[in-house]
Amino acid sequence: MSVKVLGLLGSPRRKGNNELLLDQALSGAQSEGAKVEKMVLNDLDITPCQACGQCLSTGECVIRDDMERIYPELKLAQHLILASPVFFLGLPAQAKLLIDRCQCLWAGRNALPHPERSTQRRGLLILTASGSDLRQFQPLLSTVRAFFATLGITYRGELLFGGLEERGEVLHHPGALERAFEAGAKLVKGEEIGPLLPQTPFYPIGWVRNSYREAPPEGWERTESELVIEPEVEPALDGLEDFSHLIVLFWMHSAKYEGQVKIHPQGRKEMPLVGLLASRSPHRPNPIGMTVVRLLERQGRVLRVRGLDAFDGTPIIDLKPYLSSDEIPDAKRPEWVRGLEKGGIG
Ligand SMILES: Cc1cc2nc3c(=O)[nH]c(=O)nc-3n(C[C@H](O)[C@H](O)[C@H](O)COP(=O)(O)O)c2cc1C
Repeated sequence: MSVKVLGLLGSPRRKGNNELLLDQALSGAQSEGAKVEKMVLNDLDITPCQACGQCLSTGECVIRDDMERIYPELKLAQHLILASPVFFLGLPAQAKLLIDRCQCLWAGRNALPHPERSTQRRGLLILTASGSDLRQFQPLLSTVRAFFATLGITYRGELLFGGLEERGEVLHHPGALERAFEAGAKLVKGEEIGPLLPQTPFYPIGWVRNSYREAPPEGWERTESELVIEPEVEPALDGLEDFSHLIVLFWMHSAKYEGQVKIHPQGRKEMPLVGLLASRSPHRPNPIGMTVVRLLERQGRVLRVRGLDAFDGTPIIDLKPYLSSDEIPDAKRPEWVRGLEKGGIG
């Protein structure tokens, strides 16, 4: 008997980027012998969850609307694909309405297929956004993963496409439709779809305190800053005061990355155009800053340091002692770096 793959379209825009991608993914699933069905959430009558709590004791929703026929579909489909645009860094209301109404499935989860069977049920997420920064997909990934988990479906992969604003723009996105087709086929075959975007990987262990609020001033190499470490992390500093220098990793929270891949270092047109990753520009996909500083003093959870290239309020994500293995005296650098190095090469 063929397996069934259910595709949910979260976008209200017909023949838009998500519908084109979802159709491809469903065709891919079909090519592996699956039966497929597409549901256009915008066409359904779904009342928002009223948090009445009745499902908590019964596992059933009391609201009478299109969800009555969707619940069995959600339970019976072997695999599920959700294709949705990013709206205000979240899911469009059409998709969120359906997800919220799955509270009764969460409440009645014992009635769902046994967790051991859930590895047999697989889920794929397709998202599109007009911005090209991958981080804008982050906030709704947790919601979607929780949705799949509630249905007893193993989250197997995601296809994230930025830079898609206009209806149908995905048709000009190299390889996008092919990737969606292939992902649909792999979902049915149970093959790896690709690496998953990590869930928010950092939390600040402390904050930078100094007197500059924007770009560090001329001669920042000689300025002093304080690293104010969170109280619960303080014991983790023990022993750091025995090192003269530290590597400080920080999150450049004011950086603005807009998908640029080539830049003139420090925005100076007389500098050669180089790949973003060949520079120290703060405006990068993951705005992680790194500076080697001199440790002047530790007072409890406050470290006084010299030469930090980060401004007041910057979250610190890690500290490491500077070791002799970090020193590479004969390291090669291109010509353009030499003139800039004193002031950083961003
Ligand atoms: C109400 C609304 C909110 C949006 N919010 C965002 C956003 O926060 N970030 C973003 O990059 N794109 C945003 N977009 C753009 C859509 O995500 C993008 O155009 C998407 O590719 C549309 O997919 P579709 O063609 O399947 O409808 C928004 C669009 C609308 C209509």
